[in-house]
Amino acid sequence: MRILITGGAGFIGSHVVRLFLKKYPKYYIYNLDALTYAGNLENLHDVENVLNYTFIKGDITNESFVLKLFDKYQFDAVIHLAAESHVDRSILDPLSFVKTNVLGTINLLNAFKNCHNGNYDRKLFYHISTDEVYGSLGLTGLFKETTAYQPNSPYSASKASSDHFVRAYGETYGLPYLISNCSNNYGSNQFPEKLIPLFINNILQKKQLPVYGDGNYTRDWLYVEDHAIAIDLIFHKGKAKETYNIGGLNEWKNIDLVKLLCDKMDKRLNLDFGSSRNLITYVKDRPGHDLRYAIDASKIKEELGWSPLVTFHEGLEKTIDWYLNNKDWVDNVTSGKYQEYYKKQYNN
Ligand code: NAD
Ligand code: DAU
Repeated sequence: MRILITGGAGFIGSHVVRLFLKKYPKYYIYNLDALTYAGNLENLHDVENVLNYTFIKGDITNESFVLKLFDKYQFDAVIHLAAESHVDRSILDPLSFVKTNVLGTINLLNAFKNCHNGNYDRKLFYHISTDEVYGSLGLTGLFKETTAYQPNSPYSASKASSDHFVRAYGETYGLPYLISNCSNNYGSNQFPEKLIPLFINNILQKKQLPVYGDGNYTRDWLYVEDHAIAIDLIFHKGKAKETYNIGGLNEWKNIDLVKLLCDKMDKRLNLDFGSSRNLITYVKDRPGHDLRYAIDASKIKEELGWSPLVTFHEGLEKTIDWYLNNKDWVDNVTSGKYQEYYKKQYNN
């Protein structure tokens, strides 16, 4: 089986590539990634020489390139993770999210369709999406697979649009697809623009911890390796044309999570300014900020037997230790252009 994994040099993608290479030595894994600011081949340095692995540098928004690639390799399956993934960046530059997340996905769908020409026996297009497509929950309730889409940010609107196109290609052209919508991931190799790695890095640099609004926004956190396991299960056992929600069953208000993170960091570091909680600074809220995400993961549990394996405390400890032991990785990815983004986003 020849599997194309897009976005495999990014945070979640690199964990998925590694899991598939280790678990399925008979599959040929092709990792297509444009290596944007968020993609980094260092994430996969431990598996880069594995025989059944090929890295292809390329941009999914380039239609003719994508068509030729499918023509050449005749991929049996696609696991599509490549995306612009950061909400704050989508507020600064929505169009790049439309290009990659919507047009890029359509290019892949077209290429997959052209390549198999209606013969979809044992073929699959698996689209990795987010719980943000459902919009925001109030203080109660959970996102189910049947919850209506109501995206509130340019990022989530572009992901919602790509989900709709995947489904539409299934209905219109008979393309066999699967979609999963997952909650917030955390773990090693996450670009330090997202809450947890950003705050770990800021504590190390004695910089303020910019909590948006009143800090009472709630997210459902899942350890990235548990997401990769869910993707593996859905890929192999999911029912075609179905959607699966994946979540951590682990809701935290941002401010409580940040305090916990500070306390865990304090235990490891000997800070000369007391507790890192002193760095917490409430800043202007994110426009269109969704109040709460929480997933009802009963479908994937009942149908496929999946539940998260890693507790939040265990996962957070592992994550902090990874960032403390990989300061060079952080320095490499945060040099250059990232500094410009940081100034624009946080005004300092
Ligand atoms: P990421 O930003 O860390 O990685 C995205 C990867 O896609 C990078 O390697 C980047 O180089 C690549 N990429 C971007 N534009 C590309 C293009 N035009 N052509 C080819 N490659 C391109 O993202 P992530 O957090 O790993 O998320 C991966 C997927 O999972 C995304 O589709 C995202 O919407 C989804 N998701 C993420 C989370 C989360 O918490 N991070 C949760 C649920 C779903
Ligand atoms: O829910 C899944 C989504 O989770 C994924 O689809 C996205 O790709 C991923 O980026 C993530 O989106 P969020 O916007 O929830 O993640 P982020 O880490 O950016 O923010 C988490 C919460 O923390 C959110 O309520 C905003 C808040 N926050 C974030 C940053 C970067 C702050 O208070 N301060 C910050 O500086």
